[in-house]
Amino acid sequence: MRRGREEAPVDEPLGNIITFYSYKGGTGRSMALANVAWILASGGKRVLTVDWDLEAPGLHRYYAPFLSDKDLTGSEGLIDLLIEFRDATAVGGAGAADDKWHEAYADISAYVVSLDWDFPRGGTLDILPAGRQGASYSARVNSFDWVEFYERRGGGVFLESIKEKMRADYDYVLIDSRTGEVTHQLYVEDSYAGAKREWNAAQDAMGKTLRFIPIKVSEISCDNGCAYAEEFAAAIPEADLRASTQGLTVFFSAKSGNQMAIPLSGALIAKQLAAVDAARAKLPTNAAAAGTGAVAR
Ligand SMILES: Nc1ncnc2c1ncn2[C@@H]1O[C@H](COP(=O)(O)OP(=O)(O)OP(=O)(O)O)[C@@H](O)[C@H]1O
Ligand SMILES: [Mg+2]
Repeated sequence: MRRGREEAPVDEPLGNIITFYSYKGGTGRSMALANVAWILASGGKRVLTVDWDLEAPGLHRYYAPFLSDKDLTGSEGLIDLLIEFRDATAVGGAGAADDKWHEAYADISAYVVSLDWDFPRGGTLDILPAGRQGASYSARVNSFDWVEFYERRGGGVFLESIKEKMRADYDYVLIDSRTGEVTHQLYVEDSYAGAKREWNAAQDAMGKTLRFIPIKVSEISCDNGCAYAEEFAAAIPEADLRASTQGLTVFFSAKSGNQMAIPLSGALIAKQLAAVDAARAKLPTNAAAAGTGAVAR
């Protein structure tokens, strides 16, 4: 197994980052990503695949024949990298005089695993796994405080550094993202007669952009003027839900200029979060980790 890779020459164009997302789980997203990556590497490209589906990592399974650590029980990954950065900020790194100090932590090469396969024309295929697999894995993921990471540790700038590093080192970065999870999404159906509305954006009450998920636009009939049904959703970060015990409102807007505000009560949010917690508690790795109550590293 090779780990890490050499620096790309400075004058090379930056690589493309492509995220694979699907609203539903189990649709073949990871398998599609694994195959596209393989095809690109076979065409001589330097390809990095990233398992950003932290709650249900599985991309590595498709590459098992080409990995010496097939279950990744001995290989650290993304969550380990994020924890290392977070812990460094906790001991004062964030206040360091050198404002580029975090770039050292954004060096993904120590966490990247290369597939043991000789691709033609200099192609390479690497994977940045979700994190070291084992009993403590889900505790590490579930206890990671994203709000704190973004708001107090400069997580946004750090992720930006990681992105730049990836684009400099690879031609293609394919990210396997988490499935659209119903518990964290506000699903909306809008049926109407008249011109197509094309709902396309969502915000919270503070004006923060929420990820808009287009699902379907169907023409119901065009007999006496047209009627349409649009289905879409807004992803609400779990941390925002947890911080909204009083309820929150999601504002949708459409290309047509239409707007709608959908209030979610605190009681509904609490119910959804309770369901999420109950589902997580049933995960076997979680149950094992729950006993420790600590972040195992
Ligand atoms: N094109 C395909 N034809 C038939 N079966 C497929 C195809 N693509 C994937 N599968 C099978 O479907 C199952 C789910 O695939 P995969 O894990 O890639 O989906 P996913 O969308 O990444 O799922 P998850 O939401 O769990 O991450 C696997 O058993 C896979 O072998
Ligand atoms: Mg998957």
